Amino acid sequence: MAASPPHPWFPPGTVILAGAGPGDPDLLTVAAERAIRQADVVVHDALVSEEILALIPRDCELVFAGKRGGSPSTSQGDISLTLVNLAREGKRVLRLKGGDPFVFGRGGEEAQHLAREKIPFRVIPGLTAGVAGPAYAGIPITHRGVNANVAFITGHEKAENTASATPGNDTRVDWEGVARSFPVIVLYMAIKSLDPLVRRLIAAGRDPETPVAVIRWATTPRQQTLVTTLERVAADVAALDLQAPAIVVVGGVVPFRQELAWFADETLIPPPSH
Ligand SMILES: C[S@@+](CC[C@H](N)C(=O)[O-])C[C@H]1O[C@@H](n2cnc3c(N)ncnc32)[C@H](O)[C@@H]1O
Repeated sequence: MAASPPHPWFPPGTVILAGAGPGDPDLLTVAAERAIRQADVVVHDALVSEEILALIPRDCELVFAGKRGGSPSTSQGDISLTLVNLAREGKRVLRLKGGDPFVFGRGGEEAQHLAREKIPFRVIPGLTAGVAGPAYAGIPITHRGVNANVAFITGHEKAENTASATPGNDTRVDWEGVARSFPVIVLYMAIKSLDPLVRRLIAAGRDPETPVAVIRWATTPRQQTLVTTLERVAADVAALDLQAPAIVVVGGVVPFRQELAWFADETLIPPPSH
């Protein structure tokens, strides 16, 4: 472990907004691990793995701020308020989020709130599930000769959630444009909306036989991977009752896992419909 940087790195009364990566504690950054050791209180969400929570010192206060077991999620306003209040109590506050805090994680909103309340903060990026998950399934998300770009998309945004129709600031997904322009698509939070999403991709011209991987609890000993096709993925996920959290990878990079799958803890789920 590298020596701690000169102080003040994590002074009392400040917040560190850190990504914990997708689950494997080995994927924590050196900075995130240092913040875990120095924090007075850790405010974490449901996607921070048990293995990572186990690294938090016993005398550190632990605050759960997320959604678990179908219970209502802590509101974003409440979480931001908690961070501000804890910092004003003079604590070193670590806000630990799954993956990267700024990738589909509302970390930007929390940072905005801290900035507006004049609470000093720093951000520690984390490995996002859409990059690390495929890697642990033996899928390179870019591969020479297959794709020169990759789309990271949330399946969570409904058309009615459109925040603004201003070009360049629009939360709607142009699925037809995505189908045409991105050979490889990495979907977050898409399990519940898979059926309409894949229908739109196929209707926009994507080959129904396009390979698809669903990677659940990626990078943890619970990792499960299903390999199927665009046409069958929604029915397969429903038949297997596969639940979140899962990353869905669509495109010609998926078959590389036949040669590259390396993660010994992975369970391969046979597709029911084949
Ligand atoms: C609210 S988003 C948070 C994303 C996170 N900030 C990141 O960068 O990975 C939650 C979604 O991330 C994905 N995800 C996060 N951790 C995962 C994991 N270990 N395995 C599979 N998917 C994961 C799933 O799609 C899940 O529904």
